[in-house]
Formats: sequence, structure tokens, C-alpha cells
Amino acid sequence: MDATVYVCVNNRGGIDRSCGARGAPALMEALRAEAARRGFDLAVRPVACLGECARGPNLRLAAGRFWHECQAAEAPLLLDAILAEIKVPPPEGGGTGIPTSGS
Ligand code: FES
Repeated sequence: MDATVYVCVNNRGGIDRSCGARGAPALMEALRAEAARRGFDLAVRPVACLGECARGPNLRLAAGRFWHECQAAEAPLLLDAILAEIKVPPPEGGGTGIPTSGS
């Protein structure tokens, strides 16, 4: 296993305050697909809540950084950011471009 990330999939039925209603399931699948496409062993695990509900969909690297307001279309950039966080160099010409929080 190269890395584990947690995606909040909590769905309270309203898009204002729950990641699951704002695209988290599609984000999980997109991250898995992008990691597989690159041959990177990324465990993408669903969690009930990461405590950042107003800023979701939320993604957290195991014991590490948060990313907020993540969408499936951003999966390639998010994976770049995850790899940078765990010190795996991005492919030549790559970059993250994804804002993160310091938590
Ligand atoms: S609902 Fe996603 S962090 Fe709480």
C-alpha cells in the first residue's frame, strides 16, 4: 500500500452541509481510477464525516493534510497533490494547482 486517503461520503440529504450530496462518491471513484491509471497503490476509503462539513467534499490523507471542496474532475490534480505530500515526485511538467489547508 502506497498511501491511504479518506473521503467523506456523509449524505444528510441536503447539498449545503454534506459531502456525499455534493459529489463525494464520484470523487472517490475518480481518485481510484486516476491512481490505477498511474499504477499507484492508493487506498481510497469512505468515512462518515471529517468535521469540515461546510467546506466539502473533503478529502484527507491518512494522518495528514486536508483538501476541501474537491470534485471528481480534479482527481488528477488532487493525486498530484497527494503524491507531493507523501514526497513522491510528480511526473515531469506536473504540478498541483489545488489549494489546501494547513490542517
Ligand atoms: S459531511 Fe463531510 S466533513 Fe462532515
